[in-house]
Parts: sequence; C-alpha cells; structure tokens
Amino acid sequence: AAAPPHYVIGFSQCTTGDAWRKAMLLGMQKELSFYPNVTFRLKDARDDSRRQQQQIREFLREGIDLLIVSANEAEPVTPVVEEAFNRGIPVVILDRRTTSKLYTAYVGGNNLEVGRAAGRYIGNLLDGRGNVLEIQGLAGASPAVDRHRGLAAALAAYPGIRLVAQVQGDWKRPSVVQNLPRVLRAHPEVNLIFAHNDRMALGAYQVCKQLGLDRRIRVVGVDGLSGPQGGIQFVQDGVLTATLLYPPGGEEAIRTAMNILQRRPYAKENVLGTMVIDSTNVLTMKMQTEQLAAQQQDIQRQQRLLQQQRDTYASQQTVLYVLAGA
Ligand code: FRU
Repeated sequence: AAAPPHYVIGFSQCTTGDAWRKAMLLGMQKELSFYPNVTFRLKDARDDSRRQQQQIREFLREGIDLLIVSANEAEPVTPVVEEAFNRGIPVVILDRRTTSKLYTAYVGGNNLEVGRAAGRYIGNLLDGRGNVLEIQGLAGASPAVDRHRGLAAALAAYPGIRLVAQVQGDWKRPSVVQNLPRVLRAHPEVNLIFAHNDRMALGAYQVCKQLGLDRRIRVVGVDGLSGPQGGIQFVQDGVLTATLLYPPGGEEAIRTAMNILQRRPYAKENVLGTMVIDSTNVLTMKMQTEQLAAQQQDIQRQQRLLQQQRDTYASQQTVLYVLAGA
C-alpha cells in the first residue's frame, strides 16, 4: 500500500502551565501515537492574546495542514483564526472559542450548560434561599462569558437566591487569594461561592478557612480533574462541596482533526458532556477515573512492546537481507 500522506498539525494553546491543559495534551499525545504520519507542533501563548496572534501568524508562515486553537480571549484572537480559515486551512476550536462562525469544527464542553447545571445544583443545595458570590474566569474568554450567563439564567428560576457579588479572576489561584478577602468583608451575607474553575475554587476555600468562614460558606468549582491536585480529590476531601465536570477533550480534538484531514465524516459541533460531582458520587467517579488511568498505562505498555517487536523484526529483516545478499 502507498504510504499515508504526511500532515502537519499546529496547536495554538492559550497556556500550558496547569494540570487541566496538561491532561489535554496527554490525551492528544495518546491519540497522536496512532498516527506516525503526523507532525504535531505546539505553540504556548502563555496567557497572552497578542502572543497568540503572533504565534498563529508564525504557523501560517511555516505552513500547517490544520490548526487547533484554544483562544486565550475570544475577540483579539478571532481575526487571525479567520485568516487561517479563509486561506483554506481547516480550524478545530478546542475549549475556548473565537467570536466567529468561521471554523471547521468545535470540540469541548458546553459552557452555557456548565453554568446552568451549576445554577440548578446551587439552587437545590441552598433550598432556594441564599447569597451567591461568583468568581469568574479571565474576562473575554468564552468559557467565562458562557459560565456566567448559564449561572445567571439558572439562578433566575430561584427568586430567593441572589447573586450578590462578582470577583474578576484570571483562572488562577493567587488572584483569588489576593482579592477575595476584601469582597467577603464587604459581603458577609455570602453563603456560597461558585468559581469558574477548581483552582480558583481552591483559593476561595483557603481564604474562607483563613477568615474562619469555611463552615458557613460552601464552594463549588468547575473541571473535576482526577489526581491528587484535581477537583475530584477536593470534593472527596470536603474542600469543595461540588465540581462540574469539564473534560479537556484532547483525544477528541485529534480524532476530529484526523477525520477532517483524511476526508472522513465529522461533526461540526463535538460537545463533551458535563455532570455534577459531589459527595453522593465522588467515590464512583474516583474509582472510574483511576481504572481508566490504569488501563491507559496498560495501553502505553502494549504500545512500547509492539514498538520493540517492530524494531526487532526490522533488524532481523536486515540480517536476512544481508545474509541473502552474501
Ligand atoms: C485551564 C482552564 C480550566 C478551565 C478552562 C477554560 O487552562 O483554566 O481550568 O476550565 O481553562 O478554558
């Protein structure tokens, strides 16, 4: 059979530092291991939308067959992504969207639904009465915009629940630790904090604990990663009352990219589901994710073994060839 064509995939990632993005990359690499004919290039914008614009422009100059992009902020990154699309380069938007319809496929959670599910959960948890403080993700990032809209829409069904304060976060813990104490002092009526991710939720819990409010104020986050620093563990430890699962989608992104490149059918919107993880299901979740991780390690071991066998076979072929030629 003819060798499969070679493809270059460029991945413009808004940041790589946190565990959620690392899990995403791991998923991508796992799926990429099935495609030795793909060169995968990653550029890390390190939370800087200007840098991300430049890096996507670099990709266009260097030449790529497909662009995967997670936009740090939607507005500033949109024009250059549109430019890529208009040049005929397929674009897969992963997790953080642009403001444009010009893309080939989206892979990621429905953040409006994440916000709504959080709102419904909070409404029930507080029995329809209470005061909520919201800690938002980076302003202008599509998940922050949508999580807020979803939350507000769902809470509107509970007239006894008020959204009394908002803290402008940046997805990171330190800014919460710095700004939250002031807001909490101004709003002693708060009894629940919804943070747009588990890292900021952890910061919120730490602040509450320091102020002696950790028994009065419950904290709900988003992401629900497995592992010792992940949201599932935080829920199990009672640090968070709940978290909303938000899958990183690395495998799905590569699968979609390969379907596009190999001209196989694909869906334009590939929405990954969410669910509430709280004390009622956290043990099940933990067991399932641990089992999955163990299976993935088995698969990696099998892949290494296969590769060794292929190498051995190749060297034996060489020996046979040399002997035959002799
Ligand atoms: C990771 C992260 C997640 C969040 C997502 C939103 O970089 O901040 O915690 O759910 O990005 O895009």
